[in-house]
Amino acid sequence: MKLAGKVAVVTGGARGIGFAIAEGLAKEGARICVADIDTAAPDAARKLGQGSFSFRLDVTRLESIEAMVAEVKRRAGGIDILVNNAAIFDMAPIGEITEASFDRIFAVNVKGLLFTLQAVARAMIARGQGGKIINIASQAGRRGEPLVAVYCASKAAVISITQSAGLALIKHGINVNGIAPGVVDTPMWDVVDALFAKYEGLALGEKKRLVGEAVPFGRMGRPEDHVGAAVFLASADSDYVVAQTLNVDGGNWMS
Ligand SMILES: NC(=O)c1ccc[n+]([C@@H]2O[C@H](COP(=O)([O-])OP(=O)(O)OC[C@H]3O[C@@H](n4cnc5c(N)ncnc54)[C@H](O)[C@@H]3O)[C@@H](O)[C@H]2O)c1
Repeated sequence: MKLAGKVAVVTGGARGIGFAIAEGLAKEGARICVADIDTAAPDAARKLGQGSFSFRLDVTRLESIEAMVAEVKRRAGGIDILVNNAAIFDMAPIGEITEASFDRIFAVNVKGLLFTLQAVARAMIARGQGGKIINIASQAGRRGEPLVAVYCASKAAVISITQSAGLALIKHGINVNGIAPGVVDTPMWDVVDALFAKYEGLALGEKKRLVGEAVPFGRMGRPEDHVGAAVFLASADSDYVVAQTLNVDGGNWMS
């Protein structure tokens, strides 16, 4: 067990990639706080065992983030691992991007991620035991896409924040690294598929099939494909890995 006795917060951990990573960390002995805006979070936490629990977190509200950090401290003593995973998706042609869509994506994917990292890092520094922070980026942060300007920009920001925070926090024994998934079959991709169907005139499910076929590995990612990288970045095995974003995408991107 690589994470015995550790406490991990997984934002957006109620489903999809976040839930799979939460399960993987729990199997390695970690106690998980499933921190999600979704009301399914308590059920997800119950499935994990290990004394795991949930918190109704909205990463766009700083007071909600502060309350989450305080609650984890009260229930579990402190936070050893943060998986900054909560995010939303939207897309539109450049000429049709709305201010509301831009503000919402950046509020969750960038502001929410940064201030969750900040609050958890402050608590880790005060505790003096170091920690591990894993930001979930995306292949979308490596390269722009004609219909996906805002989400791609938000994920490029995640990669950049991972670099800056990684350099700033390693002196406190806090490793900040990221994972960049490719195309993963989760509820988020149902949203993506429906939007591509709308803008590219495809049948529902067609974009999913096309992107899956194009992955060098030969299929779309599954949530559990990200567990190995997450356990590595959450454990002492990665102590000398700093400010990196690891592509876990079946070969879609090389960097
Ligand atoms: N699915 C993909 O193909 C893919 C590819 C690359 C990167 N990613 C990234 O992986 C991560 C997980 O994606 P997923 O596909 O599992 O998504 P998902 O939509 O299935 O799950 C996202 C979770 O985040 C939660 N969430 C949303 N807004 C929140 C808020 N304001 N506060 C707290 N929680 C909130 C949701 O309730 C949900 O449980 C995201 O960062 C996403 O950008 C996904």
